[in-house]
Amino acid sequence: MRTVIAGGHGKIALRLATLLANQGHEVVGVVRNPDHRADVEQTGASAVVLDLESASAADLTPALKGADAVVFAAGAGPGSTAARKDTVDRAAAVLLADAAAQAGVRRYVLVSATGVDQPVDPARGEVWAAYVAAKKAAEDALRGRSDLDLTIVRPGTLTDDPGVGKVALSTGPLDRVDVTRDDVAAVLAAVLEAPGTAGLTLELMGGTDDIVGAVAAVQK
Ligand SMILES: NC(=O)c1ccc[n+]([C@@H]2O[C@H](COP(=O)([O-])OP(=O)(O)OC[C@H]3O[C@@H](n4cnc5c(N)ncnc54)[C@H](OP(=O)(O)O)[C@@H]3O)[C@@H](O)[C@H]2O)c1
Repeated sequence: MRTVIAGGHGKIALRLATLLANQGHEVVGVVRNPDHRADVEQTGASAVVLDLESASAADLTPALKGADAVVFAAGAGPGSTAARKDTVDRAAAVLLADAAAQAGVRRYVLVSATGVDQPVDPARGEVWAAYVAAKKAAEDALRGRSDLDLTIVRPGTLTDDPGVGKVALSTGPLDRVDVTRDDVAAVLAAVLEAPGTAGLTLELMGGTDDIVGAVAAVQK
């Protein structure tokens, strides 16, 4: 399997690249900073340098040729402006879909976030509101496309604690429990191997279910 990860130097992305490369899969990480190339290559993946906020779909398409799947794991990140929530968390996710369509890649796994379909607490400020709006708009834009086999994964609050190999995964609402980036990456790797998750939006929290079993259980 050849998988292209947009936001290839992200914390989840590097973990996912390591897992996939260790399973013998081919992985490409798309990064905007050439200094990040070495970290991506250290996982066993190869790196393509492209800024997803200034690139066109045509710029990105060659990197996607021959891929079996794409994963959107980019994000403007903490401390970014409200404007960059839109240009990265929404627009770059759509750009990846456009490029995937042009390259003939149907399988798309979107890393979203829990709560994006809930009312926003105004006390959290306008950048938070912009983040939630961008994630929701990305989900809606991608869900409406017939040229993608889309799985949306909505993790709860992420931690850098070591993974435990167990999660809670559901197409319905879950109580909020922090989840490790290690375990999110393992869920993404399992989702990539599970075509029956196409069309699903999956809430993902810390939990007690074995990851491969949890992914198998939610498949249509
Ligand atoms: N934090 C949480 O609790 C939480 C909860 C649920 C979901 N999420 C979502 O989970 C996803 C992954 O999380 P994470 O912790 O792995 O994020 P992360 O470490 O912040 O990684 C995001 C990556 O996106 C890259 N990126 C930003 N703008 C880009 C651009 N224009 N072109 C190419 N790459 C670009 C960043 O690169 P640079 O280093 O160059 O900026 C960074 O490597 C994010 O979408 C986040 O919103 C987070």
